Amino acid sequence: MRIAAVGDLHCHEGGAEVFRYALADINTRADVLVLCGDLTYRGRIAEIEAVIEELAEVMVPVIAVLGNHAYHEKNQRRFHDLLEDAGIQVLDGESTVLDIRGHSVGFTGTKGFAGGFGRRALTDFGEDLWRRFFKAARHEGEKIRHGLAQLDSELKIVVLHYAPVTDTLTGEDPQIYPFLGGSELGAAIDDGGADLALHGHAHFGREAGFTPGGVPVRNVSHSLVNQAYRLFEVDWPRK
Ligand SMILES: [Fe+2]
Ligand SMILES: [Fe+2]
Repeated sequence: MRIAAVGDLHCHEGGAEVFRYALADINTRADVLVLCGDLTYRGRIAEIEAVIEELAEVMVPVIAVLGNHAYHEKNQRRFHDLLEDAGIQVLDGESTVLDIRGHSVGFTGTKGFAGGFGRRALTDFGEDLWRRFFKAARHEGEKIRHGLAQLDSELKIVVLHYAPVTDTLTGEDPQIYPFLGGSELGAAIDDGGADLALHGHAHFGREAGFTPGGVPVRNVSHSLVNQAYRLFEVDWPRK
């Protein structure tokens, strides 16, 4: 199974013809395109319309999550609807199963959230503001846990914007790790079991890592993969 994946396109108003050109070969190279959030620069409607325009010739199924930039001008709901109207499936805790050459491939995804990692992660303690922050991070983890529980497919892929582990943050300033993702996401992936987790958001991180439970994690931030998308070949599980 060939998954094309990219995040953080950060498309400006008016679009960037470069994406359309660079995505032209995707129909023959990949079975599915996964978009890991931050499709736009400022979260403007004109920007997401440009993204949709850029994707017009992609004929393989497209699965997306939104990133934090989609929220900046409070257009996240519109983004969701415009993308879905264009035939792009936007995951926010839902799960979906594609039939790819006779095999079932399940996807679940959500934006995710910040909160930090391991012993340094934010806890449910103190001022209400911090506790709401913690609950928002936990809620994103619960979406993944729930989404994975719904899947009974041969392969299970988790799609995120925020990072579930620190492995793929290496290269970023460690002081911003807590704002780039959180352990709640990694723990949910391990609890539910998955074959691959994809994320973006960490523009200057590293591509490859693992959850504590050994699930491969890939950061597909556009600046990092340094091409239109990263192509993954995932083996079908042996029956
Ligand atoms: Fe980004
Ligand atoms: Fe982001």
